[in-house]
Amino acid sequence: MALNMCSLPQASTVRVRAPKFCMMTLTHSSKGVTTLKKPNSPKLEMPETQVTHSMPPEKLEIFKSLESWAEENVLMHLKPVEKCWQPQDFLPQPNSEEFYDQIKELQARAKEVPDDHYVVLVGHMVTEEALPTYQTMLNITDGIKDGTGASPTPWATWTRAWTAEENRHGNLLNKYLYLTGRVDMRAFEKTIQYLIGSGMNPKAENNPYLAFVYTSFQERATAISHGNAARLTKQHGDLKLAQICGLIAADEKRHEAGYSKIVKKLFEIDPDTTMLAFADMMRKKIAMPAHLMYDGSDDCLFDHFAAAASRLGVYSARDYADVMQFLVDYWEVEKVTSPSSEGRKAQEYVCGLPSRIKMIEQRASERAKDNNATSVAFSWVYDRNV
Ligand SMILES: [Fe+2]
Ligand SMILES: [Fe+2]
Repeated sequence: MALNMCSLPQASTVRVRAPKFCMMTLTHSSKGVTTLKKPNSPKLEMPETQVTHSMPPEKLEIFKSLESWAEENVLMHLKPVEKCWQPQDFLPQPNSEEFYDQIKELQARAKEVPDDHYVVLVGHMVTEEALPTYQTMLNITDGIKDGTGASPTPWATWTRAWTAEENRHGNLLNKYLYLTGRVDMRAFEKTIQYLIGSGMNPKAENNPYLAFVYTSFQERATAISHGNAARLTKQHGDLKLAQICGLIAADEKRHEAGYSKIVKKLFEIDPDTTMLAFADMMRKKIAMPAHLMYDGSDDCLFDHFAAAASRLGVYSARDYADVMQFLVDYWEVEKVTSPSSEGRKAQEYVCGLPSRIKMIEQRASERAKDNNATSVAFSWVYDRNV
């Protein structure tokens, strides 16, 4: 999954995170060392009065009644394990005589890739590695949660198999980046530990309508991010790494197909609730999964990472608007007949939003061109400025 509580995702260019979103639990000692008052507490961005379990209990029946449909139409977007690629397919073989030569070749290719690109790749990898959080999000969602840990419902089957497929992404990027010798492993390992400890807050209210809108959006956004990373890596000549990013992007697309199909079905059988859910998630703005990332020193690490991704054209507000437009078209939102006036207002809002976002983005990027983008030191690349 890719990356903003604050707003238009990793999109933001030189935006500085609003103080309330920066790490409020941080304190700076006289020596300038940053410590956490409560090092293992989640850095919650929302008050505890946040809405939870907002789906009316009678709607649980809808998800129960969709089980046979999901069995047939959603699970087909998973791949059998035996047909899946595994991280080792793209890494030097430790039992081969050529192991050390393969590492030398890998490191020679890695030299050609600039630091800002590694920052984006590490950001992707850190996001992927916080997978326990994402599985938790699905398993606290009413109507689809895995009630036993090995429940046979198609919803639970999907969640476990999706997690298992996703698990290969962080694993491969982590191992590959380690072998490049270009990134500070300890710094990003710490970032992963902080991030998993912090969790995330997509404001999906344990509500499957909201959760599936979120995951549809998120998987497509992530596919775009990894796809653009692949394109850039190819330009820098590391074809193996480009292939890795491309394969991950393809998995994300497949997952997007599953999630967005569920929302399409919900539009068909319960158009009003689904319309309101879509508009609700868009008003709240899609929080990227790693929006709480922290490395122990940079209070606004996510924003800095997002700005780097935007500058490189890996993911920007324009992509956010494109994802939205795609979903509006795919779900045929304009054609949906919403029975309530609230539903019709929501429909008008979501249909007009992509073009409004693009207009705002256009103005913001013109302003950004006038300002000199400030470079920032990233612990992930040994505190070099990016
Ligand atoms: Fe994903
Ligand atoms: Fe992924």
